[in-house]
Amino acid sequence: SKISHELRTPLTSILMFAEMVSDGHSDPSEQELCIEGIQREAYRLQVQIERLLEWGRMEAGQRRYERTRLDPGDIVEEAVEVFHGTAPGRDLPIAVELSHPLPAIEGDRDALEDALLNLLGNAFKYTGEEKRIAVGAAAEGDVVRLYVRDNGPGIPRREQRRIFQKFYRVDDRLSRAVEGAGLGLAIVHHVATGHGGRVEVDSEPGRGATFSILLPAAGEGEDTP
Ligand SMILES: Nc1ncnc2c1ncn2[C@@H]1O[C@H](COP(=O)(O)OP(=O)(O)O)[C@@H](O)[C@H]1O
Ligand SMILES: [Mg+2]
Repeated sequence: SKISHELRTPLTSILMFAEMVSDGHSDPSEQELCIEGIQREAYRLQVQIERLLEWGRMEAGQRRYERTRLDPGDIVEEAVEVFHGTAPGRDLPIAVELSHPLPAIEGDRDALEDALLNLLGNAFKYTGEEKRIAVGAAAEGDVVRLYVRDNGPGIPRREQRRIFQKFYRVDDRLSRAVEGAGLGLAIVHHVATGHGGRVEVDSEPGRGATFSILLPAAGEGEDTP
């Protein structure tokens, strides 16, 4: 399946690099490249395993969400910061769009950040050369919209519902060229509904895509941040 491919590929690379270092025939600069390769592939493997375990907890009904009062702007900014700390995000400027005022939301900081990171990861990997990616938060009545927008190829209308199903990937040239197990959007969907919200995708093929997580705004709490 796609999952076993996603796990085996980095593991095979790690073993290959390790063998090249240990057989003693490579020079120091080659060895350095091998070590870098081992680090990169091990990181990939770690991300895949974490995601698989997270999905396992979700499917088993064991993923409990905290309900902390949160500033949506903080979630957006922290997700961008984490993304910039990852290999793919290192050099990519990302526009942050925060409307004012933004009501607080109630939820699980880690889960919401992780959901935005999944969307950012997709925006990065499915968008071509000149990537323009924005992430933001906006208030719409009693709802707070967290969104990620890209200028990639977009998603055909008939696929827009199915992409949130577990393991589903659009069967086109782009998605075949890009690696993935098809779990990211299923996780995003679980996080949104687990917070009493929903997901939305707005895309016209060829003109990019905007993925949103719509969450109920928190009531007037005593402890307004
Ligand atoms: N920003 C995007 N632009 C174009 N297609 C996308 C985007 N995000 C997701 N998709 C499509 O939706 C599918 C499911 O996404 P996801 O669940 O994150 O799985 P994965 O990224 O592992 O393939 C992808 O395989 C891709 O076909
Ligand atoms: Mg994904």
